[in-house]
Amino acid sequence: MLKYLIKGGTLIDPSQELLGVYDLLIEGDRISRVEEDIFEPEAEIIDARGLIVAPGFVDLHVHLRDPGQTYKEDILSGSKAAVAGGFTTVVCMPNTDPPIDSPHVAEYVISKANCYGLCRVLPAGTITKGRKGREISDFWALKEAGCVAFTDDGSPVMDSDVMRKALELSAQLGVPVMDHCEDNSLATGDLNEGEVSALTGILPRPPEAEDVLNARDCILSLYTGGHVHLQHLTTSLGVDIVRYFKEKGANVTCEVNPYHLLFTEEEVLRSGANARVNPPLRKEEDIKALRGAISDGTIDCVATDHAPHAQFEKGRVDAAMPGMIGLQTALPIMLRLVSEEVLSLSRMIELMSVNPARILGIEGGTLREGAPADIVLFDIKKEWVLNEETNFSRSKNTPLWGKKLTGKVIYTIKGGRIVYKDN
Ligand code: NCD
Ligand code: ZN
Repeated sequence: MLKYLIKGGTLIDPSQELLGVYDLLIEGDRISRVEEDIFEPEAEIIDARGLIVAPGFVDLHVHLRDPGQTYKEDILSGSKAAVAGGFTTVVCMPNTDPPIDSPHVAEYVISKANCYGLCRVLPAGTITKGRKGREISDFWALKEAGCVAFTDDGSPVMDSDVMRKALELSAQLGVPVMDHCEDNSLATGDLNEGEVSALTGILPRPPEAEDVLNARDCILSLYTGGHVHLQHLTTSLGVDIVRYFKEKGANVTCEVNPYHLLFTEEEVLRSGANARVNPPLRKEEDIKALRGAISDGTIDCVATDHAPHAQFEKGRVDAAMPGMIGLQTALPIMLRLVSEEVLSLSRMIELMSVNPARILGIEGGTLREGAPADIVLFDIKKEWVLNEETNFSRSKNTPLWGKKLTGKVIYTIKGGRIVYKDN
């Protein structure tokens, strides 16, 4: 049996309130011991002195573009980017071509990902057939095929009755329904409504487009008991809405994208189409509210919304495909917030690992003895640049392209196997 002994690292595992210098022994695909000083002559040693050792990151919101749009990304390139970013599990969005609205497409994704064995790839199925917003997909069959959530991501579910039914099914099946909340009748433009949209003449996409659907979904969750997970929250009012409905007892969770914690709408003036994303980058006051909500617990997790697009799709801002790649930049962005004392390292790991695993109800997100050996080792000080040499995604659409980043994954271990090692 393969054994690794991770020696001398600073272990941080919020799932068991563990923080300190410990050794960790992996036997086969499981964590077998966590103790102050382990001696195991048969194990290969991984020197973790100076590194943080944490449960592998779990990302609830990733676009792998496979099947159908593999010029942007595919399961292999996306998995490589994921493990280089410290992720051992990703949930891939069903806005593929064809969409993941039938078991055979879900099975294709799972079996292709298993062939590579890099990170765990768990598909989300669509809420509605063809992502058209009308007829509910066969949730039972999709769950049976391995789907861990349902979402029409990229598009909202505009019909409230369809959403209510989906949440009733969520309550029955115990599977979260994730919604991309932007009301189509309000979200007609490309940039947040404000000075930048006015200055550039690019049509606005106001915050209320997001807030009305967030509120609606929370209301429907409260009535049905279904688990609604609000994707990429960006507004200050959205934070208040979630806080209010959580207090009311609604079964609601939500995520924030690292970019929405970092950039304001003005980033478009610097980065052009690479800063074009749905929902759009907002204002300083929204960032402040989101940062407050990650430290006070209103926001449950960080999700990258890794959204690769080809260069030819990122020309003019108002003609560009929305989205940014994000698997390899999530850790450096979050570490920057840690250095600014927005949150602790331990809270960061809770948001990137423990909580997303809990939302999905999957194993992982913990370094407990007996748990799968899904582990990330990172250096909080190491500087690097995201460029042609370091990027694993097939796309490079991010305002952070070519920028110096601080914080790097050194090892990613999935199921007891090293799936990424920094060179
Ligand atoms: C995503 C994409 O490109 O698929 N784009 C984006 O701007 N976020 C879709 C999505 O996550 O809504
Ligand atoms: Zn979305």
